[in-house]
Amino acid sequence: MLAHNLSERAAHYLHLEEQFGAHNYHPIPVVLERGEGVFLYDVDGKRYYDFLSGYSAVNQGHCHPKIIDALITQAKKLTLTSRAFHSNLLGEYAQYITSYFGYDKVLPMNTGVEGGETAIKLARRWAYTKKGIAENKAKIIFAEGNFWGRTLAAISSSTDPSSYHNFGPFMPGFELVPYNDLVALEKAFQDTNIAAFMVEPIQGEAGVVIPADGYLKGVRDLCTQYNVLFIADEIQTGLARTGKMLACDHDAVKPDILILGKALSGGTMPVSAVLCNDDIMMNIKPGEHGSTYGGNPLACAVAMVALQVLKDEQMAENAEAMGQLLRDELAKLQSPLIKTIRGKGLLNAIVISHPNPDASWDLCLELKNKGLLAKPTHGDKIRFAPPLSITKEQILECVAIIGKSVETLQ
Ligand SMILES: Cc1ncc(COP(=O)(O)O)c(C=O)c1O
Repeated sequence: MLAHNLSERAAHYLHLEEQFGAHNYHPIPVVLERGEGVFLYDVDGKRYYDFLSGYSAVNQGHCHPKIIDALITQAKKLTLTSRAFHSNLLGEYAQYITSYFGYDKVLPMNTGVEGGETAIKLARRWAYTKKGIAENKAKIIFAEGNFWGRTLAAISSSTDPSSYHNFGPFMPGFELVPYNDLVALEKAFQDTNIAAFMVEPIQGEAGVVIPADGYLKGVRDLCTQYNVLFIADEIQTGLARTGKMLACDHDAVKPDILILGKALSGGTMPVSAVLCNDDIMMNIKPGEHGSTYGGNPLACAVAMVALQVLKDEQMAENAEAMGQLLRDELAKLQSPLIKTIRGKGLLNAIVISHPNPDASWDLCLELKNKGLLAKPTHGDKIRFAPPLSITKEQILECVAIIGKSVETLQ
C-alpha cells in the first residue's frame, strides 16, 4: 500500500496521469476501471457507490445495457458523416427530441459548454434580426454563481476567480445579477439592449443552490414582459435529475431556449442539444454555426435510447422519491458536522461545518475508504447525486456509510 491507501497498481495509473497529464483537476485518489448501474469498481476490484454520476452525466446508471447496445450497434454501422451530408438518423433524432420536449427545432452539439455558446449565439442573432437591437449592442445577463463550462465565453460570465483569473481579456456584452433576485433582474431588464437571461434552474457547481419557489415563474414572466429570451441551462438539472424531466417543470415554465447535455448520452459520449422554436432557431442560416461531430449518427442513436430509458424506467419519479428519502435519512443522522442538507430529487448537497477548511475533502476520503465516491465543490459543500436507478435499500446503505464516515471525522 502506498499513500492514500493506494495499491501499487492504482498508484502506477495515478502517477502516469500526474506525470503526463495537465494538472487541471484535483481528483479523489481512486483509480476506476469499471462501472455498472450505481456502482463503480477500482483497479483492485473494490466496489463504490457513485454519488457524483459524472457530474450528472450518468443519470441512467453506468453502462446501461440498452444505451450500450445502441452505441455498439450504431458504431458498427456508421459513426460520423459530418453535416456536409445527411444521415438516416439526424432527422429521426430531431423529430424525437423536439416532440419529447415540445420545441420546433433542435441544434445538436457535443459538450455542454458548446450548447451554452450556441444558445448565446442564437439569442444574439435573434436580438439583431427580431428584437431590433443595434449591431454589436446585444447583452446577455447571467446570475452570479453560474457555471456553464470552461470556454472563454463561459468564464467571462463567471464570478469564481478560479475560473477566470489570469485568463482575460473577457467577452463583452455579458452582465451579472444576483441569483434568485427578481427585483435585480427587473432592474437590469430596463436596458433595452438585453437579449437574454441565461440561468440554471438550480445552481449545481455552486453547491446545489436552490432558488425560492416561484423564482423561475418570475423569470419567465419578466422575460415575456420585457421581450427578453429565457435561456435555461438544464445541462446538470435536466433529464430527470431533480425529480422531473426538467427542473423548469417544478415551476411549470417553458424556457425560450433549452440547453441539454451530460445525461443525453447516458455518460457514453459528449452529446448536447439546444432546443427552441422557429422564430429563434431559423435566424441562423447554413454555414453560420455548427460542429464536425454535432448531430453525428452515433450520438443520435445513443441520445434517443438515453431519453427513452429515462421515461421507460420512470427515473424522474424514482429521483423524486429517493431524493426525499436520502434527505430525510441524512437529517436523522443529526450530525453536528453537517450544517445543511439541501436538494431536489437526486441533486443534493450537504454543507460541512468544521474548523478545518479541508474537512469536506477529508470526509470524501473517508467516504471513499468506506465505499462511496463523492467530491467537494466550493470548499465546504459535498454533492450527493447518485444515478437515478438507485433503490431504497441502496440509499439506506449509503446513509449508513455517510453516518459512519462523519462519526470518524467528528
Ligand atoms: C449547468 C452546467 N452547464 C454547462 C456545463 C458544461 O458542460 P460540459 O462540461 O459538458 O462542457 C456544466 C458542467 O458541469 C454544467 O453543470
